[in-house]
Amino acid sequence: MSKPKLITEDGIRTDGRRFDELRPIRMEVGVLDKSDGSAYVEFGKTRVFAAVFGPREVHPRHLSLPDRAILNCRYHMTSFSVEERKPLGMTRREVELSKVIREALETVVFLEEFPRTSIDIYIEVVQADGGTRTTGLTAASLALADAGIPMADLIAAVAVGKVDGQLVLDLNDVEDKYGEADMPIAMAPRFNSIVLLQLNGRISKDEFPKALALAKKGIMEIYRLQREALKRKYSATPEGGM
Ligand code: CDP
Repeated sequence: MSKPKLITEDGIRTDGRRFDELRPIRMEVGVLDKSDGSAYVEFGKTRVFAAVFGPREVHPRHLSLPDRAILNCRYHMTSFSVEERKPLGMTRREVELSKVIREALETVVFLEEFPRTSIDIYIEVVQADGGTRTTGLTAASLALADAGIPMADLIAAVAVGKVDGQLVLDLNDVEDKYGEADMPIAMAPRFNSIVLLQLNGRISKDEFPKALALAKKGIMEIYRLQREALKRKYSATPEGGM
C-alpha cells in the first residue's frame, strides 16, 4: 500500500488530533480479582491489561536472590489484538519488549526490600493500535502500585515521532507504520529521569530536543491521570461505609 496522507494542510492528523494532542485516555486500577494488583489502560484503540503477583516465593527456589527480589515481566499481545496471524508463543519482539519494560520498572521498584522473592508482572495487549509498549509500561506501574509494591515513583510513557515531516505526540498505528520516526519514551517524572528511550527511524539533531519536550508534556499529563486513577480507587468510600 502506498503511504497515506497523515496530516492535512490544516494540521489535522488521521484521527482528528493536532500534533501535540494525546489520544483519549482511560485508566482503571484494581480491575482483576486473582492478582495482587492490576490495571487497565486505554490510549485510543490501544487497550492493555497489566497484572502483578508478589512479592512471592520464587520457583524453582534456587533462582532466588539473597539480597533482592527478582522482577519478572512478560509483555504479550493476544492473537486477537492485531490483524495479522500472530504466532501463539512469544515472538522475538515480545521477548525484547518484556526486557526493556522490566529494565524501566527496575529503576523505581525497591527490590532490595524483598530478598528471596519474585514480583511477576504480566502485560496483555488486547487491542493494538500503536504505542503498546508505552501503554503497557504505564499500566504495569499502576498495577505495581495497586499491589502495594514500594516504588520511588510511577513510570509514565508515551511515543513521539515524525510524520509527514512534523513532530507528533502519541503515534497511532498508521502513523507508526508510515511515519518517518517513532521514539517511545518512559520517565520517572518525579526525578525528571528517562528510564526508556528507543528510536525507530530518523530525526535530526535539532528535532531531538523538541521531540523530547513534546514527550515530556504528554508524560506529565499521563502521570496526572495515573495518580487520579489511584486516588479514585483508594479514596473511594467503602460500600456501606460513611
Ligand atoms: O506497540 P509499539 O508502538 O510499542 O511497538 P511497535 O513494534 O512499534 O508496533 C507498532 C504497532 O504495530 C503496534 O502497536 C501494533 O498496532 C502494530 N503491530 C502489529 O499490528 N502486529 C505486530 N505483530 C506488531 C505490531
